[in-house]
Amino acid sequence: MIPDDVFFKIVRSAAKAPSGHNTQPWLFAKEDDGICIKPDFCRALPEADPEHRELFISLGCAAETAIIAARFYGYNPALRINLLGTDCSLKISLQKDDTIKQPELYSYITARQTTRNLYDKNEIPAEDLMILQQAVSESGVGVRLFSGQSSLDMFSPFIAEASALQISNPNFKSELIQWMRFSEKEAMEKGDGLYTACSGVPSMGRLVGGFVLKNLVTAKSENKRLLTQLNKTAAVALFISPTNQVEDWIRTGLAFQEFALTATKLNISHSYLNSPCQIPGVRDKMITALGLNGEFPQLIIRLGYSKKMHFSFRRRINDVIIEQNIE
Ligand SMILES: Cc1cc2nc3c(=O)[nH]c(=O)nc-3n(C[C@H](O)[C@H](O)[C@H](O)COP(=O)(O)O)c2cc1C
Repeated sequence: MIPDDVFFKIVRSAAKAPSGHNTQPWLFAKEDDGICIKPDFCRALPEADPEHRELFISLGCAAETAIIAARFYGYNPALRINLLGTDCSLKISLQKDDTIKQPELYSYITARQTTRNLYDKNEIPAEDLMILQQAVSESGVGVRLFSGQSSLDMFSPFIAEASALQISNPNFKSELIQWMRFSEKEAMEKGDGLYTACSGVPSMGRLVGGFVLKNLVTAKSENKRLLTQLNKTAAVALFISPTNQVEDWIRTGLAFQEFALTATKLNISHSYLNSPCQIPGVRDKMITALGLNGEFPQLIIRLGYSKKMHFSFRRRINDVIIEQNIE
């Protein structure tokens, strides 16, 4: 069994992974031969993510981070994805190995963030795009990189259509408001959710913030915001998988976290333009338009150069740890 302090350190790193709406939908347990990561469906997003697709991508991100941290602490990790019946879990068995090479990406776990400001349009050098492409080595997950205005413009109609559908849906908006954190106090107390400062929006309190989001954020304003972001993007990374099953989602998360940490190492900011992957009708049109030949788009990531923003908060570590014998 790994020592408690190593278990806590690995969990602390893994919990820094990205997750949809910063829900942190994961629970960690220490097992005889390593660590088990389970989905926490109490933190699901029924409106934004009814199939739990992004929940499992987030779980994959946490698992990849745990794997990198385990190597840093001198353990050889082996991941097993267990999807039997209702029991889905990611088991990472850990063998002490004093010869293991220190993972370079470990030091970027705390530096990584979703950077939602506008990027400058400086091109990303071809060698860095190549490094990013090669960072995705997870079996079954592909990444396509798009740069140049005409390539990026291909995404505009799908982003516009999907985000308009989402923001005009009152249930989607209510769920978003529920996960918004409109002040530092609220964000720190809860340790989760979307803190406004991470999007460059000043604190305004729940009453005012909820009113603004409910009444003043419209399909038109949202389209303008997202398409401006796309216009200020140096490149877009599209993550694709051969099928659209739970294992594809987990593997997308494993691959994406490696990609995001590599981008951080290269000082390249990243954020999400995901809405076309979230609405099946729009996703299917995008599959045809991009000639994806039956492959499924899972994440649309914009890349570019910008200043860092406020970092998001995380829950207390004890709140994400469960006892071994609790199913
Ligand atoms: C599967 C997935 C989907 C996400 N979708 C979006 C999105 O559509 N828009 C967005 O701004 N951020 C999106 N995010 C980023 C999360 O909101 C972010 O990871 C979370 O707030 C924690 O912040 P951090 O990444 O800076 O640590 C997504 C993250 C994941 C893992």
